[in-house]
Amino acid sequence: MNRKVIYAGTFDPITKGHLDIIQRAASLFDQVIVAVAKNPSKQPLFSLEERTALVSESCLHLSNVQAVGFSGLLADFALEHQAQALIRGIRGSDDLEYEIQLAQLNHKLAHEHLETIFFPPAVELRYISSTMVREIYKHHGDISHFVPLCVLNALALKSNKEN
Ligand code: COA
Repeated sequence: MNRKVIYAGTFDPITKGHLDIIQRAASLFDQVIVAVAKNPSKQPLFSLEERTALVSESCLHLSNVQAVGFSGLLADFALEHQAQALIRGIRGSDDLEYEIQLAQLNHKLAHEHLETIFFPPAVELRYISSTMVREIYKHHGDISHFVPLCVLNALALKSNKEN
């Protein structure tokens, strides 16, 4: 059986925290699809195409990982790709209640054919979020510890264009 899992998010942009979870999932499962959500509610800095390309580039060293953009319900996307489970990172107790609710909802929406597997974050990456990375960058802080090199380059290119 091909064990296929999905790791979904907005990835605006992908961080080393996300990458850590992707790498750990890739070592456990046959195939990992990183599902990049269009997510119009967040008004992302990078377009869906840019975010998907940055995830692909960050995961080039992982042969069983593929980045795919999606819109609509995650449960429908998972059914369409015949995935057995969703991967979610839980950074602390604050995330837990919401994540359990989401897991139960996705299980129901996928007609009980979809499990959710929770990963704890790496200790040193626990406090990162994409919003914080964007905020630090905006104020000229050093984000090189938090994001893959391709993201650093893409942010520099974007701010050069804006200036
Ligand atoms: N490392 C670094 N950052 C992390 C992280 C980790 N290990 N885990 C989570 N984060 C960050 C994310 O980057 C995100 O940061 P941001 O708010 O600054 O963008 C934040 O923590 C929240 O993460 P998450 O809850 O995964 O939100 P998301 O926006 O990245 O993804 C979707 C949410 C896309 C998975 C969810 O909205 C979805 O499934 N949408 C489709 C519609 C649907 O089916 N909804 C559910 C049924 S109602």
